[in-house]
Amino acid sequence: MKPTKIADGIYDVGVIDWNIRDFHGYSTDRGTSYNAFLVIDEKVALIDTVKAPFADQLIGNISQIIDPRKIDVVVSNHTEMDHSGSLPHIMHRIGEEKPLYCSKLGAQNLVSHFSNNWNYHPVKEGEDLRLGARTLTFMETRMIHWPDSMFTYLKEDHILFSSDGFGQHYAGFDKFDDQAGADLMVQAKKYFANILLLYAPRILNLIEKVVASGIRIDMICPDHGVIWRKDPGRIIDAYLRWSRQETEKKAVVIYDTMWKSTETMANAIAEGISSTGVNVKPIHIRSSHRSDIMTDVLDAAAVVVGSPTLNNQMFPTVADVLIYMKGLKPANKIGGAFGSYGWSGEAVKLVAEELEAMKFKMVAPGPRLQYVPDDAGKAACIEYGRQIGEAVNAG
Ligand code: FEO
Repeated sequence: MKPTKIADGIYDVGVIDWNIRDFHGYSTDRGTSYNAFLVIDEKVALIDTVKAPFADQLIGNISQIIDPRKIDVVVSNHTEMDHSGSLPHIMHRIGEEKPLYCSKLGAQNLVSHFSNNWNYHPVKEGEDLRLGARTLTFMETRMIHWPDSMFTYLKEDHILFSSDGFGQHYAGFDKFDDQAGADLMVQAKKYFANILLLYAPRILNLIEKVVASGIRIDMICPDHGVIWRKDPGRIIDAYLRWSRQETEKKAVVIYDTMWKSTETMANAIAEGISSTGVNVKPIHIRSSHRSDIMTDVLDAAAVVVGSPTLNNQMFPTVADVLIYMKGLKPANKIGGAFGSYGWSGEAVKLVAEELEAMKFKMVAPGPRLQYVPDDAGKAACIEYGRQIGEAVNAG
């Protein structure tokens, strides 16, 4: 693959993973890329690497610009192996004595991953590294999204190398925001909802601190997906909205069903919500991936979850979605639980307890119907949906 020139002397030498569809449980329907950046000055710096199976491609891409042995400095913004997996290959190739800049925890974590004795230079917040005419400044971004995470800022060019931040699992030859289509923001939202939402308060704090400092950012280069060169403010504004967990006038009705009774209830609840003017989306769990469900949850004002009772428990797929959702810590939600049952009927209570544990504001006890919903049962579901819609409208 031909490296992408970002600016004079600055290249993306990363790789595209066209065919990945499951990224540790996240559905990557658009594939992804592992971006790595070469900055050529008096000293040559490589910022991040790629997943191990792509190491030869990375070397090949670098070789189109410069002999890899001329790399003087490697920067590792993050230890997760989609960005560090090729480090052993790279360090061996360029010379293991070359300095490796990373956070203090990055140095510890890289040793834990690769059992090596590289020439680590753990950096402090705000530390500079002069390359010649250009300067790299390191910014600690702990827990965004690993303890070792940091950003690297190229001062003279006003370019932020943001590791996973502002990334998207989006494979394409369209490497810049002004080239990518409408799916770009969809993928950026999905990335935030599934990778970063858990750390929303830290992200908000970081962005507010950066904005207050007046640091100029002309371009954001994440380690996945496209580079924000035309309008980096677009993704920064979206991150501010998402990290504040702002919601829209929207509800999701997430359910699974055994004999269509819970589905009938879900559709009736959705009808009731819709009657209040609130946008609503019923989501059958086995027709949607949990990472897509989470993307819809991100900006929904109401999350209503339905489950049949199976073996005195909620349905296993419902438990899967709830435990995934709980880990990501969505906030500012109205909650609802409902479901059908045959004889014992514990699921609705169990689902409600999970939503309450997530601090969702429960509207009212949700409908719990035996076997097949009759007209009165369907009417109760519509009324429940109406109450949820009104709660959303009340804001
Ligand atoms: Fe793209 Fe946290 O790795």
